[in-house]
Amino acid sequence: MEDCNALVKDNRQVARDTYLMTLACELSPFTPGQFLMLRLTGSCEPFLRRPLAILSCREGAVELLYKVKGRGTSLLAGKQKGEELSALGPLGKGFSDPRPDEEAVYIAGGTGLPPILAMAERIGRGHMIIGAYTKDDIPLWQRMQDIRGVEITAATEDGSMGMRGVATQALDDLLKKLQPPCVIYACGPAGMLKAAASLAKGFGARCEVSIEERMACGFGVCSACVVRTTTGNQRVCIQGPVFDAADIEWGQ
Ligand code: FES
Repeated sequence: MEDCNALVKDNRQVARDTYLMTLACELSPFTPGQFLMLRLTGSCEPFLRRPLAILSCREGAVELLYKVKGRGTSLLAGKQKGEELSALGPLGKGFSDPRPDEEAVYIAGGTGLPPILAMAERIGRGHMIIGAYTKDDIPLWQRMQDIRGVEITAATEDGSMGMRGVATQALDDLLKKLQPPCVIYACGPAGMLKAAASLAKGFGARCEVSIEERMACGFGVCSACVVRTTTGNQRVCIQGPVFDAADIEWGQ
């Protein structure tokens, strides 16, 4: 874990309310699912560090994909080339690699694309499902298409791109066609993760979920990010954000 000054190299809108930021920043190698705590510098605005999953990190350039959802991310979207941020990370626990005999399935919904795309790019084989309300909410479509060895399916609720429906319907369809063993990597809204966990159980697939939780410190000292598991409460920032889906108490 390092705390480094990061210069904005690029910060552009790539879908509705969604931005791709590239930072000049020397980070240790990361595992998809790991995140940075990002803080604006030189501002009087109250701005806790924000957790953002790392999309890529190579040759001193770190990519982050984020959706503008409030004051903090709105300020982030206004950052221009040459401005400075403070980045702490890589933090947390990322996804495990698939075993050689496992068919890999990646599923992302809502703001869950960064760790899933990072994992698909790292592994370079398998099937990926991206779910959104409409095609305007899907960023980096061409980049996903360019991953050789990974077949991409879009599911939109309004039917404007790919199949009409939600990502977990596409997952159900896909799992029926695949030969086990399979491993599912998922990130997105809690309802999607719960449904993916249930499908995985039904198909006898391994499933790892990256949980999006509010965080304050990002490294285990404040307990702002607790999730219920079968072995008690765990802190998402250090014991996750990636968990075995079978270990999470999903609730009703
Ligand atoms: S954010 Fe502080 S313990 Fe997780």
